[in-house]
Amino acid sequence: MKGEHILMFHGLIFVGLIHVTIFVVGAEPQVPCYFIFGDSLVDSGNNNALTTAAKANYKPYGIDFPQGVTGRFTNGKTVADIIGQLLGFPKFIPPYATATDQEISTGVNYGSGSAGIREESGSHLGDRINMDRQLLNHEKTISRLSALQNNKTFTDEYLKKCIYLSNIGSNDYINNYLIPSIYPSSKTYTVDQYATVLVQEYSQQLKTIYNLGARKIAVFGLGQIGCTPAEITRFGTSGKPCVEWINDAVKLFNDKLKSLVTELNSNYLDAKFTFINLASISAPQGDVPLPNTPCCQVGEDGQCVRDSNPCLVRALTVFYDGFHPSEISNTLIATRSYISVIPSDTFPYDISHLARL
Ligand SMILES: *[C@@H]1O[C@H](CO)[C@@H](O)[C@H](O)[C@H]1NC(C)=O
Repeated sequence: MKGEHILMFHGLIFVGLIHVTIFVVGAEPQVPCYFIFGDSLVDSGNNNALTTAAKANYKPYGIDFPQGVTGRFTNGKTVADIIGQLLGFPKFIPPYATATDQEISTGVNYGSGSAGIREESGSHLGDRINMDRQLLNHEKTISRLSALQNNKTFTDEYLKKCIYLSNIGSNDYINNYLIPSIYPSSKTYTVDQYATVLVQEYSQQLKTIYNLGARKIAVFGLGQIGCTPAEITRFGTSGKPCVEWINDAVKLFNDKLKSLVTELNSNYLDAKFTFINLASISAPQGDVPLPNTPCCQVGEDGQCVRDSNPCLVRALTVFYDGFHPSEISNTLIATRSYISVIPSDTFPYDISHLARL
């Protein structure tokens, strides 16, 4: 795939030249397996059977996805899907909810819309598989895999070679800290204290992934939540392109998360953690302001209205609904996570390096 895309990113025109070659047909994936943890940015259908408002298994979600509606919260592929293709996987990694024994050896996707690092995040929307539950699900997967492979040494060596991607934390803001009428966290903690407790809890969770055999772990920082159409509508921007105080809060989290990655790399010398810097990857370039308009018609909850007609030129839209990037934005994010364009995109490795280490 060789492509040149013009992106409008976070309210500013972004001219990105993306030259990527994806070899898929007949090639072996660069790693044998790929496990995905996270929220709606990576969910590929785990919420479909849950009792929750955080679902995307209806049109117009999936309008550009080969299998149509799947529960993905975008028009096409997620960042996790595209990274999987760049790693050479011929199929998308199956959601935990439906993954069969035949499928689990190449990996499982545990992502769940509205899920957070914290247990309570997203609870007002209904059920969700928060990070601690995703880790329990991963333990169950490993038990299944161990039984199938029937050789502990082999399974341990196998799990070390996999790529593990974790993209979580947005709902600890969007569906927790930023809703003081439901969640007390903003009364309990200052933004700086909250970022600290979140990163502490996330640290335990990343150590659990390590303890479950992972040695190549890509940790995504948070995107600029203050630039999402839904938060702009809710809070206003006082004339700025984005809600600045939300972006400032997210930056505190991202900075602490990046430090955590450094710490984990020095404490676990047999593992490689890397920080994917979404703030760098999606930094606006150019200076032509453009409204952050969602592609689909959104309801009060920021999700696409069921069966509504989305915009036609989806290759030129940053956001698909009030919160979630469109496939074209996901392509930009995934390609720069995989091969960094500027040094600040990934730290210390991009995912193509992580795969080869
Ligand atoms: C188990 O796996 C290891 C590592 O691949 C291999 O060396 C060993 O021969 C295997 N054991 C059996 C009983 O197949």
